[in-house]
Amino acid sequence: MLIRNETVADISAIRSLVTEAMRLLPQATGTEASIVEALRAGRALSLSLVAEEEGAVVGYLAASPARVDDQGGWGLIGPLAVLPSRHREGIGAALMTEALRRLRETGRGAALVGNPAYYGRFGFRAFHDLRVAGCPPEVVLALPFDGVAPAGELIHHPAFGLAQ
Ligand SMILES: CC(C)(COP(=O)(O)OP(=O)(O)OC[C@H]1O[C@@H](n2cnc3c(N)ncnc32)[C@H](O)[C@@H]1OP(=O)(O)O)[C@@H](O)C(=O)NCCC(=O)NCCS
Repeated sequence: MLIRNETVADISAIRSLVTEAMRLLPQATGTEASIVEALRAGRALSLSLVAEEEGAVVGYLAASPARVDDQGGWGLIGPLAVLPSRHREGIGAALMTEALRRLRETGRGAALVGNPAYYGRFGFRAFHDLRVAGCPPEVVLALPFDGVAPAGELIHHPAFGLAQ
């Protein structure tokens, strides 16, 4: 399996894959593929990684710039999606490992809204003072590369359509 940057030729496969994978997630909004496209249009995809196998896109991870209050340097990971027929083969982990390796080179940390039971294995955890309006605090997760606890509102790119 190859983890690489997206190319223009991947765009429709990314849309289908994200749409299909997110259908499995009860809290999904159905807008995740459109968020990726809005991030791309806004030149805000700091990472857009595909997992490719035998010429097919089987996994996808996006990251975009985020802030904690006015502190920049955070990489917001999401969506992360793997083709449902290919779950539990380590594709999600391979995408996340490469994303964290790249974000560590320049960023302060990575953050996301997601299930701690899955993301905990990569070192993500909730922090007492880290929040996203309207989200339960236990799913607002971060991995500060310097170990300093983030405190404040995790502010996503406007493409996510969250209240700021
Ligand atoms: C979550 C997702 C990206 C994981 O991809 P994957 O390639 O199957 O993951 P990996 O093979 O690297 O890891 C599999 C492990 O994660 C666990 N896992 C997968 N989804 C999980 C979840 N929602 N909660 C807890 N654990 C989860 C599996 O049980 C498995 O555990 P094990 O290794 O102990 O058996 C994939 O299941 C997916 O696309 N799901 C639908 C979309 C989604 O939920 N995206 C994340 C939120 S944005």
